[in-house]
Amino acid sequence: MKTIRTQSLSPAAAHLKQASSILQDGGLVAFPTETVYGLGADASNDHAVAKIYHAKGRPQFNPLIVHVADVQTARRFVQWSDLADQLAKAFWPGPLTLVLPRKKEARLSDLLSAGLPTIAIRVPNHPVAKALLEKFGGAVAAPSANPSGLISPTSAVHVQSGLEGRIDAIVDGGLCTVGLESTIIRLDDTAVLLRPGGVAAEDIENEIGKPVHIQTTVDKITTPGQMDSHYAPRAQVRLDAKNWRPDEARLGFGAVDCDLNLSLSADLIEAAANLFSHLHHLDAEGKAMIAVSPIPQTGLGLAINDRLQRAAAPR
Ligand code: TXA
Ligand code: MG
Repeated sequence: MKTIRTQSLSPAAAHLKQASSILQDGGLVAFPTETVYGLGADASNDHAVAKIYHAKGRPQFNPLIVHVADVQTARRFVQWSDLADQLAKAFWPGPLTLVLPRKKEARLSDLLSAGLPTIAIRVPNHPVAKALLEKFGGAVAAPSANPSGLISPTSAVHVQSGLEGRIDAIVDGGLCTVGLESTIIRLDDTAVLLRPGGVAAEDIENEIGKPVHIQTTVDKITTPGQMDSHYAPRAQVRLDAKNWRPDEARLGFGAVDCDLNLSLSADLIEAAANLFSHLHHLDAEGKAMIAVSPIPQTGLGLAINDRLQRAAAPR
């Protein structure tokens, strides 16, 4: 791949203006959100969107999430509904992505949705993302800013180590506070959970007062992103480790002796925030195996276990 110069930008107003003009000119800008860093491109520009797939080495059939500054902007692109409104009021800005029918008149690249009649859209809750989206004014397509299949980035350094030389700029906004990707919900008459993430499914059920249907069988046509091997470190990953074996990197949860602890106090929110950065860290130590303590399957534990199972899946 041809190497380009990747600029390092700060969240200062002048730099955000520069980031916005790079997007306007069809370039690629990585920026922080509360979940993970996103690799942004103008969602209306086919060529710019194609460059995302190219930079990430991402399979062409895997559609991208659209990021906008607010609900009004979202409504320009998708068919809004009462259920969408209720969830947006409760969880936006925040780590919830809604999959809704695309408006016919929406000026969005077809590549972006990989031919699907729906669009995945969210309003991120991060001051830098918000400022950049407001300045840009439209829709920014942004998958996580990592090479396809590898660990998602929760710092500008992670982005740099994966994509330096392949993208135009990185805006450094510090560490991501949620630390794993948004929850994806498809809305028609019901709410269907396509990917567990930063908003717990229980919280969505409490909000809408009915169960969320979990799409457990992997349907590669309607949720093409849910590929089995994903978020993979270089090392192999061993899950549910109740004791450690010699020569493993030990990723603990709760009061256990280990190399790095996701949360000593067994707090799932803290564990989610640490997950990818601890995996990056242990992977850099070069051991052949990373062993991980059991994580309870409640609240954000669903999303953490989902990412860990993909990290451990056969490649
Ligand atoms: O937190 C996040 O969601 C981050 C930050 C940057 O916002 N973004 C992110 O994007 O995780 P990405 O591209 O890594 O994951 C997008 C997921 C994929 O699993 C994809 O298949 C799914 O969203 N997706 C996108 N459009 C869809 C659609 N129309 N229907 C169903 N799934 C869709
Ligand atoms: Mg990703």
